[in-house]
Amino acid sequence: MNNHQFDVIVVGAGGAGLMAGLYASRTAKTAVISKLYPTRSHTGAAQGGISAALGNLEEDRIEWHTYDSIKGSDYLGDQDAIEFMCQEAPQAVLELEHMGLPFDRTPEGRISQRPFGGHTNNDTGKPVSRACHAADRTGHMILQTLYQQCIKNDVNFYDEYQVVDLLTNNGKAVGVIAVELSSGELHTFHAKSVILATGGHGRIFEVTSNAYAYTGDGAALVLRKGIPLEDLEFFQFHPTGIYKLGILITEGVRGDGGVLINGNGERFMPKYAPSVKDLASRDVVSRAIYTEIREGRGIGGSNYVYLDVRPETVNKYAALDGRTNPDGSAYTVTGEEILKKLPDIIDFCRVYLGVDPVTQMMPIQPTAHYTMGGIPTNKFGQVIVDDKNTVYPGLYAAGECACVSVHGGNRLGTNSLLDLVVFGKYAGLTAAEYANKTDFESLPSGSEEEIKALFDAMKHGSGTENAFDISTAMKSVMFDLVGIYRTEKDMEKAIEKVRELQVRYKEIKVADTGKIFNTDLINAWELGNMLEIAELIAISALNRKESRGGHSREDYPKRNDVEWLKHTLVKKENGKVELNYKPVTITKYQPKERVY
Ligand code: FUM
Repeated sequence: MNNHQFDVIVVGAGGAGLMAGLYASRTAKTAVISKLYPTRSHTGAAQGGISAALGNLEEDRIEWHTYDSIKGSDYLGDQDAIEFMCQEAPQAVLELEHMGLPFDRTPEGRISQRPFGGHTNNDTGKPVSRACHAADRTGHMILQTLYQQCIKNDVNFYDEYQVVDLLTNNGKAVGVIAVELSSGELHTFHAKSVILATGGHGRIFEVTSNAYAYTGDGAALVLRKGIPLEDLEFFQFHPTGIYKLGILITEGVRGDGGVLINGNGERFMPKYAPSVKDLASRDVVSRAIYTEIREGRGIGGSNYVYLDVRPETVNKYAALDGRTNPDGSAYTVTGEEILKKLPDIIDFCRVYLGVDPVTQMMPIQPTAHYTMGGIPTNKFGQVIVDDKNTVYPGLYAAGECACVSVHGGNRLGTNSLLDLVVFGKYAGLTAAEYANKTDFESLPSGSEEEIKALFDAMKHGSGTENAFDISTAMKSVMFDLVGIYRTEKDMEKAIEKVRELQVRYKEIKVADTGKIFNTDLINAWELGNMLEIAELIAISALNRKESRGGHSREDYPKRNDVEWLKHTLVKKENGKVELNYKPVTITKYQPKERVY
């Protein structure tokens, strides 16, 4: 009863998993397994939009989107993959529209678009409206739309099943083992193709916009099979998280005219990015906020600044910047318009802070937001295992857990939703194509027993360590020592501390020894994943002796293309960390200095 067989198994039911499931299910018997109910996946937290050069409000071009993404990536993104993603973008957005996604509309009935950081008109250097949005709930709407399509297409769902092992045989992926959370029973899923769409690992950091479920499960599963992870040192801090809580306040706020204000009441971004100001790329804005705070210009000398979207502020700075509507009239907003464009973030601030953004400023700080590195793949979602781009048969990855690499050192806002729709689709198509021309490989023996032994030791062993304590310590080490600014000394300290926590983790004991919804046990297992990845993030970051994108070293403040224009590949086998590197694919755009 607990053994299942499908041509294609997708692990994860966020945007990438649903898109992969939908496309694979058109030609192959497909199941999607998720530790969550699908519409609770973290894609739902993406607010401000999905990028595509539709040009619905003003002139835009696919080439500009491509160049902006390459520049945004600080030239670490693979240019062939970025070109592919940006080419696919208009069609991907129109497909979502035709599936029924309720995008906001222009007065003429076209999909509405707003400006976002780093997206520009390449002729004028000014921000361009490229983010297609459904108010500030775009990710949520993508989830609802794709889930409905999957149901319509008879995709098989296993909701609230935690995948705990990737099964391989003869160097091929052949299935997964999952725990059914409601019963604690183990299930074996036998497959010809396995697609990992398990999301990122932002919960490694103390202040994060990431969902509770974002614990790097897929990345940890492949690491245990001796497959390296790529560019782990590149982790994005989103400039505007709610102070202390980390909850995302969309960049759409700044797209719609909001500005950042320091403790002296000054709009400080023109100092750091004279051309696009508050709409510079995220790495630039996060560092600017951090610098203001470090130099004593946080609010009341504290470690936060304000995000101000009150109509009088928006209108004042829009006039100073000379911002206009598509018809050439002056750009202005009213309180009602702000409410209509940004309903969710207004609710979050009212509920969590007692602050009304229409009349008050929002206290914000940078928040750990996005995993730019991950499981190395090519643009068809195939997992690759080395610097020669060798494919691992039957194994695919898409979405935030994957590194294609289209984001390189720094992702532009709204390119994440585009990434998961485009590469989720291609992973689904390629995985189904492979499954349809392959026979089932036999399953390895003893895998369920190993998982049972691991869980038994956590439940009934003699350990005395508590997962929550270890997790709290890991999060503060990573946030404080491997955060926005990094130094050799801090990162060495972080590695030492994370390794101490790994030793303590071996003595972990969970309080709940039951089987039904044992979240205590699952959280402890997830912590093991995060500790493995945290160590490799710090090691990859320590080794990269330059600053690029989201990786900012105070001891090596400059980008160094001569030595470091290359991707990191890191793995750990038999307790030994191995670092390797592979070249970045450059097509048309030679690296140059980034100026915003
Ligand atoms: O700011 C935002 O709405 C986030 C979007 C993203 O990370 O792409």
